[in-house]
Amino acid sequence: MSNRLKNIRLYTDDAYKLLCKLPDASLDEIFLLYPDPWPKTRHHKRRFVSPTTLKELARVLKPGCPFFFATDIEDYANWTLAHILETPEFVFAPSHPGAWHEPYQGWQATRYEKKARREGRMLSYYFTFRRA
Ligand SMILES: C[S@@+](CC[C@H](N)C(=O)[O-])C[C@H]1O[C@@H](n2cnc3c(N)ncnc32)[C@H](O)[C@@H]1O
Repeated sequence: MSNRLKNIRLYTDDAYKLLCKLPDASLDEIFLLYPDPWPKTRHHKRRFVSPTTLKELARVLKPGCPFFFATDIEDYANWTLAHILETPEFVFAPSHPGAWHEPYQGWQATRYEKKARREGRMLSYYFTFRRA
């Protein structure tokens, strides 16, 4: 990372706690990149995407602004879509079928994505949801 960057802040605790402190409609965009998938059914409740966190994410995003969610785990992609469809504050309107497999403009693979590719998980989901 360039040492010249002066507008980076790190928060090293639970991101949900930070979300709850942010003012309404204060963010232009949110990225949730490769969150822990918690593959076992009994652990799904630990996934970051939930009705509670989606409400908070919607609250802090400005109207019309994007929430980017990327994962290589199909079950987490389906989980997230199902929850988004239950959250009227978010709109999912892809430009064409399969658009969600195309990386975002200017995308740089994260460390986790590179690991996934090395381990043979070649397909990712790059969802863009917009604040209604
Ligand atoms: C699979 S890794 C992906 C890391 C990185 N986004 C990437 O793509 O390389 C998931 C990361 O989310 C962090 N994490 C899990 N739950 C979190 C939470 N509630 N708040 C903040 N970070 C969390 C974990 O510590 C871990 O570093």
